[in-house]
Amino acid sequence: MPGWFISLEGIEGAGKTTQMHLLADWLQRQGHTVLTTWEPGGTELGQSLRQLLLHHRLPHRTELLLYAADRATHIAEVLQPALQTHQVVLCDRYTDSTVAYQGYGRGMDLHLIDQVNTIATGGLMPDLTLWLDVPVEVGLRRARGRGDLNAIEQESFAFHERVRQGYQALAKQYPQRICRIDAASDVETVFKQIRAAIAGRWREPASECQ
Ligand code: TYD
Repeated sequence: MPGWFISLEGIEGAGKTTQMHLLADWLQRQGHTVLTTWEPGGTELGQSLRQLLLHHRLPHRTELLLYAADRATHIAEVLQPALQTHQVVLCDRYTDSTVAYQGYGRGMDLHLIDQVNTIATGGLMPDLTLWLDVPVEVGLRRARGRGDLNAIEQESFAFHERVRQGYQALAKQYPQRICRIDAASDVETVFKQIRAAIAGRWREPASECQ
């Protein structure tokens, strides 16, 4: 049995990081070996790419290719080895972020994005994607409350609205992989939905999320 690959997705301030850590603890208590990781930046090279990506305004194609380079490195050095040793991998952002941000947010051609994602991943896709969905005003208020905004967080409200629409479109396109979690409520209520989504998927691997 290969390991299990779960990605977490959502706009800024959706609460992915908090939920990822709660989920890791919960899975560990059930006896799973869990690896938590993130994009961009889950490797040494990735840390340098993350600095470039989040602190500079880059041409769109440069940005797209740097996210792809980060991902290819991350897969080779972190994701593949963990999955091959049967770990549960929790990844904060993956290919859906590129579709949502570079595709819908920046308006880049979606077919081109798919091609670049395929080159970067060699087809490795999550078994399950938890899309933490919040209205843009809620997410941005939370993100801005943390202070110190990165280049993407400083984008316009309309940009983040398009990103959210991108996630909506992806969830519709891949109902078996992507589970929408209503992330506007408190931490425990959101986590309860996540546990239910995972338990449902383990019971019935081919099911669609509700
Ligand atoms: P992240 O560290 O998850 O920031 P946050 O905690 O604010 O969500 O992600 C950093 C930024 O990178 C985020 O604003 C979205 C962006 N991003 C892309 O635009 N495309 C991508 O493919 C990925 C992985 C991230």
